Amino acid sequence: MTKEFKRPDGRGIEELRPISAKVGIIPNADGSAMYQSGNTIAIAAVYGPKKMHPQHQQNPSTGQLRCNYNMLSFSVDERIRPGRNKRAMEISEVTKWALEPVLMLEEFPNQVVDVFIYITQADAGTRCAGINAASMALAHAGIPMKNLITSISVGKLDKQLVVDLTKEEEDFHTGEGPTDIPVSMTPDGKITHLQLDGKIEVKQLQEVLDMAKKACQEVYKVQEKALKEFIGGED
Ligand code: CDP
Repeated sequence: MTKEFKRPDGRGIEELRPISAKVGIIPNADGSAMYQSGNTIAIAAVYGPKKMHPQHQQNPSTGQLRCNYNMLSFSVDERIRPGRNKRAMEISEVTKWALEPVLMLEEFPNQVVDVFIYITQADAGTRCAGINAASMALAHAGIPMKNLITSISVGKLDKQLVVDLTKEEEDFHTGEGPTDIPVSMTPDGKITHLQLDGKIEVKQLQEVLDMAKKACQEVYKVQEKALKEFIGGED
C-alpha cells in the first residue's frame, strides 16, 4: 500500500492525533500529569516514595513501583462496571514494566511509589496515554529517573502501517484486519515495552519500530515542554 492510504479521520499514515499535556494537575499528589491524544485522555497521580504496606512486601534492597490503571465508567460509550477487571490488571502490570527500567528505586529500600492512572475519555491508545502521563507525573514527583518514557501505538490496517490508532481504526475489518502494537521507549530508542495484538511478519516489525521511534520523539517533545512549563510556572 502507498502513502495515499485513506485513514477514517483523514490523517497521514505517520500523523499523530493532536497532543496536549500538563504537569501538576492534582495538588494533593506528590506528582501528577495529564496527557491527551485526540479523544483519549489520561491523568496520572504519584504518591511516594513511602513505606511499603503490607510490610511483608517490603524489599530491603530496593524500592518498588506499584501501578494502578483504571478507566472511568463513562470514558467509553458503553458504561464500564467500576472496579478491577482483567484488562485493567494487565495494563497496570504492563505500565509498571514499561516504567520500571528508568526508575532508580534502589535509592528507596523498603519503600513504594504508587502510580494511579485514570482514563477519563477513551478512543484507543489508553495504555500509551497512561504511560506518557505516568512518566511525566513520576518526574514531577522528583523520583530519580534516568530518562522519561514515551509510548505510542503503531497499527497495521490490513497491510498498511499507521501510527496512533483510534478506536474506529482498531475495529477495522478489511483484509487482514487490524493489528495493534503499543511500544514504549526512552528518548534514545531503548524499548521498555512492546505488545502485539494481531499478526505481523517479522520483516515488517523493524518498520514498526522505526515509525514508533519517530512518533515517540514527537511525544517526548510535548512531555518535555509540559515539564518545563511547570518549572517555569512555579513560584
Ligand atoms: O486503550 P488501549 O488501546 O491501550 O487498549 P485496548 O484494550 O486495545 O482498548 C482499545 C479501546 O477500546 C479503548 O481505548 C477504548 O476506546 C475501547 N474500550 C471500550 O470501549 N470498552 C472497554 N471495556 C475497553 C476498551
